[in-house]
Amino acid sequence: MAADAISIRRPTMADVAAIVTHVGDPAVFGGLLQMPYPTEAAWRQRLEDTMKLGATDLMLVAERDGELVGLAGLHGAGTSPRRAHARTLGLWVVPHAHRQGVGSALMQALVDVADRWIGALRLELTVNADNAAAIALYRRFGFELEGTHRGYTLRDGVLVDCHAMARWNPQPPTRPGA
Ligand SMILES: CC(C)(COP(=O)(O)OP(=O)(O)OC[C@H]1O[C@@H](n2cnc3c(N)ncnc32)[C@H](O)[C@@H]1OP(=O)(O)O)[C@@H](O)C(=O)NCCC(=O)NCCS
Repeated sequence: MAADAISIRRPTMADVAAIVTHVGDPAVFGGLLQMPYPTEAAWRQRLEDTMKLGATDLMLVAERDGELVGLAGLHGAGTSPRRAHARTLGLWVVPHAHRQGVGSALMQALVDVADRWIGALRLELTVNADNAAAIALYRRFGFELEGTHRGYTLRDGVLVDCHAMARWNPQPPTRPGA
């Protein structure tokens, strides 16, 4: 499927049912830090929070042929003003749409906003050390491995290692005339 058939947009409340169905799939939430049995109420609340004026978090979805096929989020890196230069991100794509450019389309949209509209200097994330697909995608977008947390996440009864990865803004904003 051609990448140009994918559109990226903000989610709406009409997407909540599809989001909950997909994010409740162990093939999806197993790679994330999400809990099993997601609820529509919690996701409605989450989307409402990102829609507020001045919200730090940005949520985007990918749609193809009228179907929601992925979701990505850009978030603040904690509450300390001293981490204002950093953002974290996460994403998932529905399993039947893997390896068709959806994750790349979502990542491109997120890094464009982070680099060019927020002026974030540093993007960071954690990823399960055995998640070869996500690690390859992140490397493609300039993320580098910074270290490994041992037994960082409990996944289906097993403590798994996670890599810390980060990417610096390749063209950070400069003051006029500099
Ligand atoms: C990681 C994930 C988002 C990738 O999404 P995707 O839509 O399949 O990614 P794309 O099709 O845009 O692939 C882009 C590149 O990533 C790499 N990649 C993707 N899937 C891969 C795989 N299974 N094995 C190796 N590399 C892979 C490749 O470099 C690929 O480019 P190519 O197809 O031209 O070789 C998807 O596998 C997913 O949702 N997994 C479950 C949730 C998850 O783990 N999220 C990340 C949490 S940190």
